[in-house]
Amino acid sequence: MIRIDVELGKRSYPIHIGQGALDEVGKEVARLKATRVLVVTNTTVGPLYAQKVIRSVRTACPDVTIAVVELPDGECYKDLEHIQVILNAAVDCGLDRNSLMIALGGGVVGDMTGFAASMWMRGIEFIQIPTTLLAQVDSSVGGKTGVNLPAGKNLIGAFHQPRSVLIDPEVLRTLDSRQISAGLAEVIKYGFLGDCRFVKTLEENMPRLRMLDPEVVSEVVAHCCRMKALIVKLDERETGERAKLNLGHTFGHAIEKETGYSAWLHGEAVAAGTVMAAVLSRRLGYISQSDVDRVRLLVKACGLPERIAGIDAGRAWQSMLGDKKTLAGVVRFVLMRSVGESVVQSVPKEAVMDAMHECGWA
Ligand code: NAD
Ligand code: GLY
Repeated sequence: MIRIDVELGKRSYPIHIGQGALDEVGKEVARLKATRVLVVTNTTVGPLYAQKVIRSVRTACPDVTIAVVELPDGECYKDLEHIQVILNAAVDCGLDRNSLMIALGGGVVGDMTGFAASMWMRGIEFIQIPTTLLAQVDSSVGGKTGVNLPAGKNLIGAFHQPRSVLIDPEVLRTLDSRQISAGLAEVIKYGFLGDCRFVKTLEENMPRLRMLDPEVVSEVVAHCCRMKALIVKLDERETGERAKLNLGHTFGHAIEKETGYSAWLHGEAVAAGTVMAAVLSRRLGYISQSDVDRVRLLVKACGLPERIAGIDAGRAWQSMLGDKKTLAGVVRFVLMRSVGESVVQSVPKEAVMDAMHECGWA
């Protein structure tokens, strides 16, 4: 088992990565001295893994009351109405201040459970058991929680750190290959934003990674978690460094919004957005065309789209004005200064429009 610590003073917590991590949840509940536990999952993941979690908790802590709530599956249910469903289950289960929630699922379940835990009795503890690649390398670590509003994604939420993160790469075996590729978009992001050697590792190991070779998956997930833990330690509340984790996301969010959040998965939109961020970086004189080609090739090797055309550039620009990195009407982008080094800066509208046109947006 690999252990990584997210160092945040009193709110520090461990990430455990390895085969069998799911079976460790009972020991974590015992360590945290919880009296009652509510497992939050969804209708897809619950039937696959909830019994395993319950068994582990019952074995390690026979006196603990445990209940499960299953949410419907989908980003469209990541809303306040379904936070209410979790809170109603907390009432039914009689959760008190010493109780614990467990998020068992992908990023949707993780973000919602963390948000519900931040609100219940003004904040109780929770454990993350991420079951998608995206959630294992990104969303389960760092304490960003929340839900969507009709006006936009993740517009309400709270920073609420988990007490531990349990990552079992074995659970990825039941995930479909499109979701694996979507998670890889966030994996390659770590290389391009801050680690050229990791880019090389990914270029060399992509086929083994896509086949879920256990050794490669554990090492890659651990590397991403290490990078994320460091970034979160430096900038928990995203006042600077943490914004780099949004590489490719400004264009990606515009793709998601302009295509109605249904045609493309988040990771697919981010992948095409990462290529666009590379094109913009080249246009601003930071990287060469061969660097852009390197980004494109790795995106393709992940089974992700290098280009999503047919988006209206003017409308995309308007939606970028609503991006969380936009300050006082100035749109800020994560740019590559080189492969493995990034910077967050404002970019003139003309340069962004030119990059969008070069990438096939009308
Ligand atoms: P998801 O949670 O919707 O999961 C994708 C699909 O895989 C779902 O249908 C789910 O039921 C299914 N699934 C999950 N685990 C499975 C398994 N082991 N076997 C079979 N099926 C499984 O999507 P996601 O990509 O994990 O997360 C996306 C969400 O994460 C978005 O809401 C996004 O805003 C959020 N996010 C949050 C952060 C953060 O820092 N908090 C970072 C990135 C993304
Ligand atoms: N995934 C972006 C962040 O955690 O900041």
